Amino acid sequence: MSTSTSTSTVIGASCPHESATLHVRGEATYVDDIAEAQGTLHAALGLSPLAHGTLSGIDTALLLRQPGVVAVFTAADIPGENNCGPLLHDDPILAAEDLRYLGQPVFAVIATSRELARRAAAMAKTVIRCAPLPALLTASQAHAAGAYVVPPMHLSRGDAATALQNAPLRLEGEWSLGGQEQFYLEGQISYALPQEQQGMLLHCSTQHPSEMQQLVAHALGWQAHQVQVQCRRMGGGFGGKESQSALFACVAAIAAQRLRRPIKLRLDRDDDFMITGRRHGFEYRWQVGFDPHGHILAAEVDLIANCGHSADLSAPVMTRALCHFDNAYWLPHLALHGYCARTHTQSNTAFRGFGGPQGALAIEMILDSVARRLGLDPVLVRQRNFYGEQERCTTPYGQTVDDNILRPLTDQLLRSSDYGARRLEIDQFNARSPVLKRGLAMTPVKFGISFNVVHLNQAGALVHVYADGSVLVNHGGTEMGQGLNTKIAQVVAHELGVPLAQVRCSATDTQKIANTSATAASTGSDLNGKAAQNAASQIRQRLATLAAELLNGEAAAVQFHDGQVGCGELGGGQSLSFKSLVAQAYLQRIQLWSDGFYTTPGLHWDRNTLQGHPFYYFAYGAAVVEVMVDSLTGENRLLRADLLHDAGRSLNPALDIGQVEGGFVQGVGWLTTEELVWHPATGALSTHAPSTYKIPTANDSPADFRVALFDHPNPVDSIHRSKAVGEPPLLLGFAALLALKDAVAACGPAACDPHLLAPATAERVLMAIDQLGA
Ligand code: MTE
Ligand code: MOS
Repeated sequence: MSTSTSTSTVIGASCPHESATLHVRGEATYVDDIAEAQGTLHAALGLSPLAHGTLSGIDTALLLRQPGVVAVFTAADIPGENNCGPLLHDDPILAAEDLRYLGQPVFAVIATSRELARRAAAMAKTVIRCAPLPALLTASQAHAAGAYVVPPMHLSRGDAATALQNAPLRLEGEWSLGGQEQFYLEGQISYALPQEQQGMLLHCSTQHPSEMQQLVAHALGWQAHQVQVQCRRMGGGFGGKESQSALFACVAAIAAQRLRRPIKLRLDRDDDFMITGRRHGFEYRWQVGFDPHGHILAAEVDLIANCGHSADLSAPVMTRALCHFDNAYWLPHLALHGYCARTHTQSNTAFRGFGGPQGALAIEMILDSVARRLGLDPVLVRQRNFYGEQERCTTPYGQTVDDNILRPLTDQLLRSSDYGARRLEIDQFNARSPVLKRGLAMTPVKFGISFNVVHLNQAGALVHVYADGSVLVNHGGTEMGQGLNTKIAQVVAHELGVPLAQVRCSATDTQKIANTSATAASTGSDLNGKAAQNAASQIRQRLATLAAELLNGEAAAVQFHDGQVGCGELGGGQSLSFKSLVAQAYLQRIQLWSDGFYTTPGLHWDRNTLQGHPFYYFAYGAAVVEVMVDSLTGENRLLRADLLHDAGRSLNPALDIGQVEGGFVQGVGWLTTEELVWHPATGALSTHAPSTYKIPTANDSPADFRVALFDHPNPVDSIHRSKAVGEPPLLLGFAALLALKDAVAACGPAACDPHLLAPATAERVLMAIDQLGA
């Protein structure tokens, strides 16, 4: 950048979400709100009644006789490849010979209305001819049987076995952690409209339009340029629409291609639960060696993930779990073994944190056990194991932690939350209170930002300045509520020095930006923000040259601010409006639009050795949470939460605080009330609706909720020195689980270490108390 900008009024401003008014008024257009084209038909899916079995036939004739039914499609009707798997080709769109989980789509019914399609599809049990086979339903069953979706992965440093043997103190244990449903408010949906010359337009609720385009093209046996995928916004994605929107896009497109009619496939909530996967539940077997001060000397841990029936994104999820096991801590000798267990359940996938939370929570639980065994405050043990700033700062995967702010950040939070005094007060309260017990915990987060797969760290954007001076931005990212479009509009408004209201973001569209990465790994604003900035700055440079001519100045001295363009300090010399400059530029045939591109620098990664420099930087945060537990019932409440989170120099503090609050509450839900139960005999998911699957409500957020951003510019050249904020705050929810464990420990003898599994539902809390024999 040669031209300089005066101080910004838009970067770092808490501008409201670009669609806030529309959201509140119910005017924001989601896929199901798009006016239906004439002749639109509706699809519904017939689901496997078995967790595992062989498929011998489908009575399509019976289905075709049902009211309103126009067509029935099975695997045999797919013109191209019967696969919607993102990485491995192991994920059938419709079941072919084998049934792999209860809920797997086997056929699609197309009918004149959604209701009639669903009624016919509900006859699945009657029309599917199949025979059962034995099913593996839990990760440990599959691990024992050696059933994996990808080969085991190992990440190690030093000599964990010897260091464990030589350690003065040792502990070992087993632990388990449940999965989590994304529970996006807008369910999975695709609307396919056939176009001329063998083309297909899809409106799809997806985080990954380019992958939908590719998978639809493969399913149809077409080229990518025949398929256009559009997404204006999602009603939430949370990782659940990164790969798993594909099955619905493919079914809608196949039916639309076969019938030459527009086809809409919108899932009912229960079907969404039964068909799609979610966060991987993990089982752990761990051993840790430590000294009497609580320093970790060595650890060896098996991490066994329940991946479901296919690979989906399980390999990268496990990679991230292994690369986040260290969380905030220097672990000199380490051996981690990641097993991706293949079970006969939904195929698990991305969910906010992408395996990172499952890795980091393991070391937090282990550290808590070490502290309790030693009778030390867990905060002290955590601090003693923090990464150093000069030494003890290399991660087990070989990247140096060179932006460590753990100490100042946690110190600030411990002070502002008054941790020390409250610790004493709570201990005194617990000593006097036989039934109600309070618990307190602090947990830190260090989260690596970038896709672990180097080539995904690229983005494109397109900025149009129209002759009237208004600006339209398009980029490869998708809007799912996180405020990406707002941040990108801020970046472009800043670059061109125009008021934010002059910049409009348009729907993500594969015909505008090609070969995009998923909006995932929290990189949306990092990648697309830089790409949009790159596009806007090219336009600005062209405009600056013209402005310098018009104002008799130097191009390098031209400033763009608040819709005015001037030479030198604005307000001092001559200036003209951005609008009139643009009008002049048009007449002089200067290109008023530009593409932009960005790739994250300095990344490398060896997926065989799990070594390299996978992350551009780390985002940090910490939480202090206090809970109250009724030791007779296990019921509990969050009394207070203090969160301090590092969003770098925030692009938009209001949006970032929203992400921190939402991420935290979502993390708390995962670890406390959101329990998934598969029937042990049939493999049916019995918690498949809000009546049985309990996400947090507004009432479940802490009564006293104090959220702040740790103001600290990103040391690397990220977009305006901000940091990604989408996923890391979910890990702040750890503190709620550890506070519950602290309250449970207060029910037992001194230095006891309760065995509290997650999600720590009221029943689990009660069981953990009972096990203490108190
Ligand atoms: N916030 C809202 N409101 N809705 C969402 O679906 N998804 C999360 C996070 N925050 C999500 C959200 C996930 S999983 C990711 S990876 C990031 O947003 C993606 O957006 P970003 O990269 O622009 O932060
Ligand atoms: Mo987020 S799990 O990376 O979509």
